[in-house]
Amino acid sequence: MNPLLDKLQPYPFEKLRQLFAGVTPDPAFSPISLGIGEPKHPTPPFIQEALAANLSGLASYPSTLGSDALRGAIAGWLERRYGLPPLDPATQILPVNGSREALFALAQTVIDPVPGALVMCPNPFYQIYEGAAYLAGATPYFVNSDPARNFAPDYRSVPAEVWPRVQLLYLCSPGNPTGAVLTLEDWKELFALSDRYGFVIASDECYSEIYFKDTAPLGGLEAAHKLGRSGYPRLIAFSSLSKRSNVPGMRSGFVAGDAEILKKYLLYRTYHGSAMSPSIQAASAVAWNDEQHVIENRQKYVAKFNQVTPLLREVLDVDLPDAGFYLWAKVDGRVAISDTEFAKRLHAEYNVTVLPGSYLAREAHGANPGANRVRMALVAEVEECLEAAQRIVEFARKL
Ligand SMILES: Cc1ncc(COP(=O)(O)O)c(C=O)c1O
Repeated sequence: MNPLLDKLQPYPFEKLRQLFAGVTPDPAFSPISLGIGEPKHPTPPFIQEALAANLSGLASYPSTLGSDALRGAIAGWLERRYGLPPLDPATQILPVNGSREALFALAQTVIDPVPGALVMCPNPFYQIYEGAAYLAGATPYFVNSDPARNFAPDYRSVPAEVWPRVQLLYLCSPGNPTGAVLTLEDWKELFALSDRYGFVIASDECYSEIYFKDTAPLGGLEAAHKLGRSGYPRLIAFSSLSKRSNVPGMRSGFVAGDAEILKKYLLYRTYHGSAMSPSIQAASAVAWNDEQHVIENRQKYVAKFNQVTPLLREVLDVDLPDAGFYLWAKVDGRVAISDTEFAKRLHAEYNVTVLPGSYLAREAHGANPGANRVRMALVAEVEECLEAAQRIVEFARKL
């Protein structure tokens, strides 16, 4: 067996299952889960109809490169959304089966597994980055997110001798779980480091369309363009329809950026066998071409977060995030309680599930930056989220 598999940790939801083992929630309350970060708003009917209208695509093998129509639709979306100059859909864009597999596959393409190879990850982080690093023969190097800097990882804290070993840097903006969006200044710093040390930046942007500020989150390609970097050197951006269009089951996203890296990535993917079904490609093109449903979806999240956050703020240290669909709340502000104890007791006493922050981060540089926080995914409809918030308030007041 591949010995690298032994380096993989149980997924956070498995850890949660173990935490709750033997606990019977109070049957007076119906179960509400804010634990899993899965969009729950309904899929827009026009996307379902586009999928049904294109089922004839099931009769043929797709190419890994994807159809011109889909890559053209993605290029159009990128240009409209980020004000980019025209992209070349033939070389700068590739469809992927959701950003999860694509984030994993990039490490397998980029990493040269020499001893000491590092993949830099934010901490807390989306768990795929760590597994991708290990299975590519590298080691993750975690940079803790800094609450004082709106949860941006503090790259200045990284010792100088680490940087030459970094081959790939994952970043997540808007962040899961923090909801933080990187600024143009953050990007400038990162690009300077990438230019100096030659590492590839994988910019995970799958929450980009759910935001609470007046301006839409800055994207990696947009930052590169604004800073005058033509051709997006060593930058690959990842986006997805899962959250934007409420189609997590469709498995549809794209990568865009440096054409030279994408050429190798396409070669890797051809062998790996990760082409997107023609039917899904057709429905995806329709989804990328429509913005009205995205605006309506965002309005639902804004209304929900505006109602739920002030309630929770009565008892927890929590703010409206820049973007995303999570609240990243500090639980030990008023009383000493760990994230796991908070989650376990809330589950037992009020039948509400939240995810302990420590499960989403690793102990690094003397601390687990998630240890005193919980992640709450406000993905259900507003009434259910409000009911959960009211129960959390009651619970926290008793602590
Ligand atoms: C930060 C982050 N990146 C990527 C993904 C993967 O999304 P998908 O594969 O549906 O595009 C998720 C899913 O929850 C996520 O939270």
